Amino acid sequence: MAHLQASNLFSVKDRVVVITGGGSGLGRIMAKALDANNVSKIFILGRREAALQETASQTLNGTVIPIQCDITSKESLETAYKAVAAQTTHVDLLVANSGIMGPMMKAPQRAADGSLPSLSTVRDELFNVPMDEFTNVMNVNVTGSYYTFLAFLPLLEAANKRRPEPQQGVLSAPTAQVIITNSIAGYNRKVPFSFAYNASKAATTHLVKMLSTNFADYGIRVNGISPGLYYSEMAEHVFKDAGLQGRGISDDSFPREMIPATRGGSEEDIGGLIVWLASNSGGYINGNIVVTDGGRISVVPAVY
Ligand SMILES: NC(=O)c1ccc[n+]([C@@H]2O[C@H](COP(=O)([O-])OP(=O)(O)OC[C@H]3O[C@@H](n4cnc5c(N)ncnc54)[C@H](OP(=O)(O)O)[C@@H]3O)[C@@H](O)[C@H]2O)c1
Repeated sequence: MAHLQASNLFSVKDRVVVITGGGSGLGRIMAKALDANNVSKIFILGRREAALQETASQTLNGTVIPIQCDITSKESLETAYKAVAAQTTHVDLLVANSGIMGPMMKAPQRAADGSLPSLSTVRDELFNVPMDEFTNVMNVNVTGSYYTFLAFLPLLEAANKRRPEPQQGVLSAPTAQVIITNSIAGYNRKVPFSFAYNASKAATTHLVKMLSTNFADYGIRVNGISPGLYYSEMAEHVFKDAGLQGRGISDDSFPREMIPATRGGSEEDIGGLIVWLASNSGGYINGNIVVTDGGRISVVPAVY
């Protein structure tokens, strides 16, 4: 029964991982969780060197290797790819996690008396946002994730090539995997944050499906994670607006009609999820998107 013990089911021992956006927020937690569970190397990519170094300094086992990279530049991705390839023969898991919120482009909000703002007011507010700002959200969240996927394909293929020959009756090791961080915003038509952000996350959600289908013949698995509300640089304002000082992980931090769990996501929530997806028991997961939101999407439309 040893194969059913948690130590085997959730083993990520010796995996080589790349995480974009590893210098903060969810990417940092994922790096720390994988480092704490005996992976071999975790390359974290992002633009801010100091933020990447800070993540590395917070790990238990020192497996994190910072690499500066702007995922909106093919040259930068290629340079980062070469830096990773110089330090590993393969990559078992790539997490395309970098993302930005961009400008707030809120949907029309009713006033306390139930009246709607005039359409011309709404039009002016939304039309005033420069087109470049909308495009930039798409560029980082969608184009950047897609080119990150493409950039690392050779090292993912190399991970598949080094898998041992199948043995009758013995479970084979998981094939290479890419995980894209989406968002429940991608399913949400009430637009709590921004038209650009939500549309971009709907696009990455579909990208997961398309990539998992079209790269299945190469043995590259593609999955998604759709978080609800987790404390991070991007989401900090939501916690402040709710009058919370910390990460809002204890019960009753948020109203039940907003998040049925009544709290924000914790390090355990996202850490446990990435370890499972990266582990032996995550090996049968492909083309899947895991929602981790304390039930929030179930109660949309919600207060925001
Ligand atoms: N927190 C939440 O509640 C929540 C909910 C749903 C989805 N998400 C998603 O989770 C992912 C991580 O976000 P987070 O919440 O952890 O926020 P965060 O702390 O702001 O992290 C975003 C990360 O993306 C990186 N990044 C941004 N632009 C980049 C670029 N051009 N090239 C490379 N890296 C870039 C940033 O690093 P640099 O600035 O150093 O480049 C940063 O580390 C995002 O995709 C976000 O949409 C978060």
